Amino acid sequence: MDSGVGGISVLKHIHALLPQEELLYFADSQHAPYGNKSAEEIRARCFEIADFLITNDIKALVVACNTATAAAIDALRSKYTNLPIIGMEPAVKPAAEATRNGIIGVLATVGTLKSAQFAALLESYGRNVEVVTQGCIGLVECIERGELNADGTHDLIRQYCAPLLAHGADTIVLGCTHYPFVRPLIEQVVGQNVVLIDTGAAVAKQLQKRLSESNALSNSRYSNERNSVHFWTNSKAPQASQIIQELWGAKASISLI
Ligand code: DGL
Repeated sequence: MDSGVGGISVLKHIHALLPQEELLYFADSQHAPYGNKSAEEIRARCFEIADFLITNDIKALVVACNTATAAAIDALRSKYTNLPIIGMEPAVKPAAEATRNGIIGVLATVGTLKSAQFAALLESYGRNVEVVTQGCIGLVECIERGELNADGTHDLIRQYCAPLLAHGADTIVLGCTHYPFVRPLIEQVVGQNVVLIDTGAAVAKQLQKRLSESNALSNSRYSNERNSVHFWTNSKAPQASQIIQELWGAKASISLI
């Protein structure tokens, strides 16, 4: 699940790593962005979506959203005690290991950057590096509209990367699951010498580990075919299905709810 279509960037990693698993994706696009909502509102959305997915017999839940993880992961784990729940956080730790000059930038939503979880992350892994953060107001909305290459999107990315570059960041964390969809624009703006880090692959591995620990991995021996992927969106935008289709990059089964 995600506040919208951003978590599809994580879903791709999960599908690549665990092709035998049936994947159900809920895009809460009608309520995107989460980045400027209160933690309480986000928790209420997460409960509603988790309940919906649980009625569809999920064996694990991936909160493919940094903002929702910061606001709701503890509450979700307390409520659904028997369900493996995997969250995600900006990759400050890998960035601190990767930086060559000790300066890292973090692009994320305001909600993520303001959260206690992010403060704890900096406390644990950001002590020996300089961390420059930038809340990217409006960028999630551009991606929700499918404007991956529009001038307005480009302008926002230039605006938000500028302070990170001015501080000399050589490593930038994509701290929101929507941002990998505009990675080419970010690369264009920051240049080849800046390393971009996103957490999608690590989340997929964590999911695999959790499923394996609980003996819940699907056994691909029974099927030669990739299993199904299904999307639900509550977006009211006329082009909602088309955007999911484009971001997923293959023919998708989509329900509008
Ligand atoms: N994909 C969400 C994240 O990773 C976006 C949050 C939002 O809707 O503002 O933070």
